[in-house]
Amino acid sequence: MAKRELEHDHLPLPNGWFAVAFSRDVQDGEVVPVEYFGEELVLFRTRSGHAKVLDPFCPHLGAHLGHGGRVMGETIRCPFHAWQFDGTSGQCTHIPYSERIPKKARVRSWDVQEKNGFIWVWYHSEQKPPEWDFPELPEFSDSEWSPPRQFDLILDSYVQDTHENNNDPVHFQYVHKATQAMEGDIHYDPDSTHYRITNSSEQETPFGTFTMTLVRDSWGLGLTAVRSEGIPGAGLLMYSSTTPINDGQVHSRWLLTCSNNMVDLAGEEFMANLTAGVEQDFDIWKNKVHRSRPMLCDGDEYLAGFRRWARQFYTEPVGAVEVAE
Ligand code: FES
Ligand SMILES: [Fe+2]
Repeated sequence: MAKRELEHDHLPLPNGWFAVAFSRDVQDGEVVPVEYFGEELVLFRTRSGHAKVLDPFCPHLGAHLGHGGRVMGETIRCPFHAWQFDGTSGQCTHIPYSERIPKKARVRSWDVQEKNGFIWVWYHSEQKPPEWDFPELPEFSDSEWSPPRQFDLILDSYVQDTHENNNDPVHFQYVHKATQAMEGDIHYDPDSTHYRITNSSEQETPFGTFTMTLVRDSWGLGLTAVRSEGIPGAGLLMYSSTTPINDGQVHSRWLLTCSNNMVDLAGEEFMANLTAGVEQDFDIWKNKVHRSRPMLCDGDEYLAGFRRWARQFYTEPVGAVEVAE
């Protein structure tokens, strides 16, 4: 067995809400085949504007609804013999050449919601219904804030590993060449699907020198909002989602918005810093293995706290996290 396989610990897919598209990328009546959670899916937007996700293979002769399927009102029509499936229930509602519809003619429908500029799907390894939710962020509907810029990437990584990066203060010095170690306030509550980290530091900004605070909120393993606060009347928000494609690949998406008075001054720079920052992590993520029992030392308390919190999102146990003697 190759060394990589020996060293790598399998990490199952986490349960939770994951983005499958930017809202603005799917218009009314549009049908998109997508692949996430190791599954093929069909995503579409009904005529009344609701995003829907179904299993794509027609129960009739197995055609893929995402390749040639057509939105008809609130249903999607199979490209092969025109059976129609309701976007919410997945039930077949119409067969043009048959009076009777077989009772079991249905495809699996996934729980979907749309907010904060993304279409979200609930994934659970045992197909349990949604167990928690996350908030709407006011910045996305505030006319004082800029229309969000978007950016996305496919990475060879795991949802947990990319998320863990945020909780790894030491790497900011070595990978991102930060001059100071990140020190912050953090409370992981294993009974909550949300946690917050805040860091404050004196910074020069286009508006002068201020004590800036980075407030990072996460809901589950796939969803993080980072707000930059401290300049009166101005702010930045970076909202990101990471979705498993399969075992070892993820799709990360970002939306960036800022108060209108910041757009010209910070908009481009902010976007450039973000993409450069993620690129610095690429090589590490792409080439690393996952360790379910990492050897941690003093100073790795954040990592240990994060790992303990992260366990709640898995159906099966995912390893131990103790600081080594
Ligand atoms: S395969 Fe879908 S209607 Fe026949
Ligand atoms: Fe990083």
